[in-house]
Amino acid sequence: MNPMISASIMCADIMNLEPHLRDLEKSCCDYIHVDIMDGTFVPNYTLGTELIRRLHQDTRIPLDIHLMVEKPEEKLNYFELLPQDVVSVHVESTKNIQKIIETIRKKGARVCVALNPATPLCYLDYLYDEIDMILIMTVNPGFSGQKLIPATLKKIEDLRAHLDAIEKSGILIEVDGNVSFENAPVMARAGADVFVAGSSSIYWQGSSFTDNVSRLRNVVLA
Ligand code: DX5
Ligand code: ZN
Repeated sequence: MNPMISASIMCADIMNLEPHLRDLEKSCCDYIHVDIMDGTFVPNYTLGTELIRRLHQDTRIPLDIHLMVEKPEEKLNYFELLPQDVVSVHVESTKNIQKIIETIRKKGARVCVALNPATPLCYLDYLYDEIDMILIMTVNPGFSGQKLIPATLKKIEDLRAHLDAIEKSGILIEVDGNVSFENAPVMARAGADVFVAGSSSIYWQGSSFTDNVSRLRNVVLA
């Protein structure tokens, strides 16, 4: 599986997004990761539906929409989805994950189920036939700039082994939180395919954006 980079746009300079989109295209980022927070499921607020609409207008890069909201089934009506987009819904945020999966499918997008660091993998047990991707949070969601929770590395490894054992290796594993130049290769060896890259890597201020993206690709491929 070729590693993919999902650029966490909450870490970009919000006042300069238009030129930044061209940088994302030039550096061939696979997804734009859009964190939607409601101040309730997680303590913070971040991006919203208007940004999704504008990104759909202004770039062809697929969106990787990470919903960190209560009642995600209601919020899904507030924005359009394109077939190449993927939407992540947390199992902890709803009592009926299957219904939401069905709604995302009906809207034509790809489905990802997200797990907080302390949520066990068994929450996925009856969902493997219905999903394209699994998002393993490697920090508790809500804020950028946090430190990796080491136990999540074992969780990625266990999930990869389980997917192989049940012949579902085509389901992608995405990782989100402190995906740094040091942590990303360890996550890749554990079995991650999609890397949410934020302030710890591609938005690191010490070097240019495009150099950071190449560096991340190189360390993950090594
Ligand atoms: C939050 C976000 C963050 C962030 C990742 O839930 O998805 O994880 O953008 O960036 P860093 O590298 O700051 O963890
Ligand atoms: Zn996220």
